Amino acid sequence: MGSAGCSQVSWHLVFLVLCLFVTGLVDGFNERHPQGPRLIIGVVRSAYEGNYTCIVTFKDHGRTYNLTRTVKMKVVGSPNKALPPQFTSPNEKVVYELEAGDDLVLPCEVFFTFLKDSRTEVWWTIDGKNTDDIMDVKVTQSEIPRRFEDKTIIRTLTVAKATPEDLKRNYTCYARNARGEGHSQAIVRMKVAAPKYTVELACGLGATILLVVVLIVIYHVYWLEMVLFYRAHFGTDETILDGKEYDVYVSYARNAEEEEFVLLTLRGVLENEFGYKLCIFDRDSLPGGIVTDETLSFIQKSQRLLVVLSPNYVMQGTQALLELKAGLENMASKGNIKVILVQYKVIKKSKVKELKQAKAALTIIKWKGEKSKFPKGRFWKELQLELPVKKIIRSSSLDGQEPSYVSLRNV
Ligand SMILES: *[C@@H]1O[C@H](CO)[C@@H](O)[C@H](O)[C@H]1NC(C)=O
Ligand SMILES: *[C@@H]1O[C@H](CO)[C@@H](O)[C@H](O)[C@H]1NC(C)=O
Ligand SMILES: *[C@@H]1O[C@H](CO)[C@@H](O)[C@H](O)[C@H]1NC(C)=O
Repeated sequence: MGSAGCSQVSWHLVFLVLCLFVTGLVDGFNERHPQGPRLIIGVVRSAYEGNYTCIVTFKDHGRTYNLTRTVKMKVVGSPNKALPPQFTSPNEKVVYELEAGDDLVLPCEVFFTFLKDSRTEVWWTIDGKNTDDIMDVKVTQSEIPRRFEDKTIIRTLTVAKATPEDLKRNYTCYARNARGEGHSQAIVRMKVAAPKYTVELACGLGATILLVVVLIVIYHVYWLEMVLFYRAHFGTDETILDGKEYDVYVSYARNAEEEEFVLLTLRGVLENEFGYKLCIFDRDSLPGGIVTDETLSFIQKSQRLLVVLSPNYVMQGTQALLELKAGLENMASKGNIKVILVQYKVIKKSKVKELKQAKAALTIIKWKGEKSKFPKGRFWKELQLELPVKKIIRSSSLDGQEPSYVSLRNV
């Protein structure tokens, strides 16, 4: 095929003419020289293409006449190197992916090498049927000349507004010359509609976000319940074998209101409902002992120090403050007691250093009056979380009635 360069063209052309070259006498050319009436072209090159004119001069009655004949020389590819049709497209690398309703345009591009007197044919079939027999498709053809009389034929098949069925058909292009026949199938696919995909993606994302939100809400609303549930089922009872006589030492202002809260409400729920053993100094201490020593020894014997905070609590010099200081000191130095702050009433400003530190470091469980009285309420759950894990066999649940504050008052 001539495109590889002239030096590869190995055959020789011989012109049987008496010759002169079109631009002047054929003289002084290495590869082209006249030999008698012949013009010999030693090596054929594409540059030698052109019109060759032979001039015969003769005289008649003193006049000179020129007789000319021109021959046009074309340089073509060698028949030894002629090939069957070569498909550039369609091929297996190009995929025509369309949505239903798009125009399907399939170019069939075939390269033909020069072959003397050979027909060059290109045609499309759809599901094995020649497109000439199919009405509603359009076919156009164009030719591009290449070097040495080779050429490329492009035959384009157009199916306007292709239906999903159209996109499932077998589109095959055929080509033929004297050297052979070939075919190549166009890969046509239907594109998955984009909007559907977006909707699915949005749904998936929405569901995920919703799930996360629901989980967060559940966590925030029920985390207390979850922790308590876990403790109740998988935690080990911390009140047995802890070497402490009491679970909770209650420290409070010795004042009528606080006393009622401690003795009726706190004691009622913690002892009767949750089964903790409380140490309430005025109840449990023996009369006649030295108050300070006895207080400290009771605190030593308790797992938790529950502080009921109220404005009366922070009055200087009360026993309550002594208890708080002892508890905090124990917690800081030996770590064998934990201080729990219950805010019974808001303290505006306290000058007690220890209390300030404790309030900064510990969580404060707030008593909210009537709202907090119900033993299944949040106040008690928060408090329970701070208390040691205790497994109880409830006898009160046997009668199936929820104990209420009213009934507690009558204990
Ligand atoms: C050769 O002659 C033809 C007309 O006979 C002309 O069209 C063509 O351009 C000529 N070719 C060259 C290379 O001069
Ligand atoms: C005939 O051809 C020759 C060579 O090209 C030229 O020199 C001469 O003038 C021509 N004569 C006529 C009458 O055209
Ligand atoms: C498509 O048709 C061609 C010839 O018509 C055939 O060779 C080819 O196997 C067919 N392809 C499929 C996928 O049926």
